[in-house]
Amino acid sequence: MTQSGKEASAAKGLYIETYGCQMNVYDSERMRDLLAPLGYAPVQSPSDADLVILNTCHIREKATEKVYSEVGRLRAHKQQRQAAGRDMTIVVAGCVAQAQGEEIMARATEVDFAVGPQSYHRLPELIARTARERGETLVAEFTAEEKFDALPARVADGVCAFVSVQEGCDKFCTFCVVPYTRGAEYSRPVEEVLAEARALAGQGVREITLIGQNVNAYHGAANGRSARLAELIDRVARIEGIARIRYTTSHPLEMDDELIALHGAEPKLMPFLHLPVQSGSDRVLKAMNRKHTAAHYIDVVQKLRAARPDLALSSDFIVGFPGERDADFEETLALVRAVGFAQAYSFKYSRRPGTPAASLGAQVSAAQMNERLRMLQDALIGQQRAFNAAQVGQTLPVLVAQRGRKPGQVHGRSPYLQAVHFEGPESLIGAVVAVRIAASTQNSLAGEWTPVRGAAA
Ligand code: 5AD
Ligand code: SF4
Repeated sequence: MTQSGKEASAAKGLYIETYGCQMNVYDSERMRDLLAPLGYAPVQSPSDADLVILNTCHIREKATEKVYSEVGRLRAHKQQRQAAGRDMTIVVAGCVAQAQGEEIMARATEVDFAVGPQSYHRLPELIARTARERGETLVAEFTAEEKFDALPARVADGVCAFVSVQEGCDKFCTFCVVPYTRGAEYSRPVEEVLAEARALAGQGVREITLIGQNVNAYHGAANGRSARLAELIDRVARIEGIARIRYTTSHPLEMDDELIALHGAEPKLMPFLHLPVQSGSDRVLKAMNRKHTAAHYIDVVQKLRAARPDLALSSDFIVGFPGERDADFEETLALVRAVGFAQAYSFKYSRRPGTPAASLGAQVSAAQMNERLRMLQDALIGQQRAFNAAQVGQTLPVLVAQRGRKPGQVHGRSPYLQAVHFEGPESLIGAVVAVRIAASTQNSLAGEWTPVRGAAA
């Protein structure tokens, strides 16, 4: 109010670049909501931004280098803005900030401060302080609990929304940085999650994805006891307006019987599950400290499919973990054939300093890793194409989420999370409609919708 000058009431530009996981997508949305009351509104280009936040991911190598090159790219924008008498605050957030905030502050002088994932609620205060003392690092001095308490109410952005229910990980897979960057497992209380979900439903959200690094390890407080994920999903399913529920990412050891049974009992729970296995070799799984075998994973999948026969699966795989031999890799391919995935992510092992696997000998050569990745991806892409092709000729319920890329088209998701586009009016956004699938590619389905008296159904 006491500000002078013509820009006193003008909105300030906010540009957030998000890397990595869904947790980061969620955190970016929350940062946007948090900064809105301070006058920050999203802009399309960093050159229009008073504040740029790089929300980083540290899961595989080159993450820090990516931050430096991105900051380098921002330097030109910042200088241009400064020449025009307007500054740009650059913030590095996310897991790279948590793990390497001090190094980034020392090396990248354009960065105003680094803020780890547990401290986002302090962004307004840090931004205000930046004007006075530049160069501050803030890493996890705060607990996840305090973070959630301090965040403002959710603002919906579309008909699908993530709701974070669990953060952190106590599993300590030997290749993974998450237990170090995101900290110990923490579950939000049931009522807090329900309040957020209800608020989103009230703003037109139809699909909620409950997210957490280890979401099915959820143990949220509920009236003095602890509720597991199945109970939470059951409660979310009763919220008026919510048509679809998903959850990610799960650990095979935490797939309890109630959760498996719910897949057969709760129609709002979508028949698609991301369940990382990482490897099909028990030797490698042991060295990874996954605490499950390939047979256990297949057993969980069989139980899930007994409960919900059309359940489609997705997974994460790592090839070239230290000590992985050809025979181990063959077992991974055998598991892929045995399970059949609708889609999957596969990565070359990336050595992360500070993790137990980083000091293992017998690192697999780059050539072997490349060859294994190629073979695995060939198999997985073949399965993905076949899964999509199998929908052709069928009629699927599609939640329409947004306008399509082409005029007159809309875009939505099938129950199996496939992207579906078809000709239809924008008024369908938010509705679940019956779409006949006419064609498929590796990554999407094209369909036809008939606008009369439910004829397509
Ligand atoms: N190297 C390669 N992939 C990794 N992931 C996690 N850590 C590493 C690593 N060091 C993969 C796992 C995990 C996904 C999110 O990222 O497959 O499930
Ligand atoms: Fe990382 Fe393993 Fe935890 Fe997943 S379960 S976040 S791979 S340590």
